[in-house]
Amino acid sequence: VSEQTRITVQGAEPYDVVLGTHLLGELPALLTGAAQVAVIYPKALHLTGEAVRESLVEDGFAAIALEIPDAEEAKSVEVAAFCWDILGQQGFTRSDAIVTVGGGATTDLGGWVAATWLRGIRVVHVPTTLLGMVDAAVGGKTGINTSAGKNLVGSFHPPAGVLCDFATLETLPRNDYISGMAEVVKVGFTSDPIILELVKSDIEAATRADGPHTHELIQRAIQVKADVVAADLRETDVNSIGREVLNYGHTLGHAIERAERYKWRHGAAVSVGLVFAAELSRAAGRLSDAGVALHREILTGLGLPTSYPGDRWPTLLEGMRLDKKTRGDMLRFIVLDDIGRPGRLEGPDPQFLAAAWSEVAS
Ligand SMILES: NC(=O)c1ccc[n+]([C@@H]2O[C@H](COP(=O)([O-])OP(=O)(O)OC[C@H]3O[C@@H](n4cnc5c(N)ncnc54)[C@H](O)[C@@H]3O)[C@@H](O)[C@H]2O)c1
Ligand SMILES: [Zn+2]
Repeated sequence: VSEQTRITVQGAEPYDVVLGTHLLGELPALLTGAAQVAVIYPKALHLTGEAVRESLVEDGFAAIALEIPDAEEAKSVEVAAFCWDILGQQGFTRSDAIVTVGGGATTDLGGWVAATWLRGIRVVHVPTTLLGMVDAAVGGKTGINTSAGKNLVGSFHPPAGVLCDFATLETLPRNDYISGMAEVVKVGFTSDPIILELVKSDIEAATRADGPHTHELIQRAIQVKADVVAADLRETDVNSIGREVLNYGHTLGHAIERAERYKWRHGAAVSVGLVFAAELSRAAGRLSDAGVALHREILTGLGLPTSYPGDRWPTLLEGMRLDKKTRGDMLRFIVLDDIGRPGRLEGPDPQFLAAAWSEVAS
């Protein structure tokens, strides 16, 4: 028997994230009224994508495949134009729909194609990576990269539903799984410390999709993201922390990704960024020594990096100043006042930055 869990993401048009196995039976109800469905998936996920398409055909939809390049290669305006061409040739109307099957790159590209075709048609995401499930597929952000940088073009286009089939994780390379765990523990640190307890209880198992707590960890991480985005749908909340809490560890993390020319996995860069943010919280007199130690214990235990070459600091500082989340010249960080208690730190004292860096520098 497969257990299913549903998490409702509130908003102007609420939708459910369904977690479990054998979820394809959920699709017809989500696609009611659509005659045609385009299933967008990367070459690497041909079998999974075709299984989805065939089940749609059996359910009476005219389902076509849109095979796109793997990973970040998919997130370009050229790939979007390829998709638009086919939707045009097939005569996709306002009532037709898109289903994405893949990691965050696929859900971002496919979500943006859905957002732009006829100014927005329905999209259902079937994320197949841990990062896709707990982060990219939930919350409605879609987008592509441009020559100037990552995710600079996009829109908010919430899906009609998200189906997280745990079985798809079986083929995910271990390093991709571990990278996704960085986002899971990120929301553990900011918002749901039980996640940290579950990870600590068997940290080796937490590096594998077949670990005993995998389902609960994913469910809890999605719940945090659902709550955060429901409270701040379009990232406009200025009074409370809102969606910016999801940026914990990302100010430095993004700068590392840029410095590494995106050769590092996102989760690895975020891991270093999390330790830095914790150290910065401590330097600013906000987080305890034990709180910082917990970051190192968990991230090291998961096999994620927690240090970075010390001589790269000027490059990283420059990268942080260029981050699109920076406002004016002021560096912004999410910090912790305690585990589970996030706060903001704007324009931190350079001494705090230096002190935090000295703890991360190798
Ligand atoms: N929209 C958002 O809110 C949001 C949030 C976080 C990240 N993102 C975006 O997500 C992207 C990263 O997502 P990702 O880490 O899932 O990367 P990805 O989509 O590039 O997938 C990683 C690799 O794993 C392969 N893969 C996917 N599922 C697999 C499976 N089940 N078995 C075997 N291989 C599989 C993919 O083909 C790819 O090569 C970035 O582009 C990032 O900008 C978006
Ligand atoms: Zn992230």
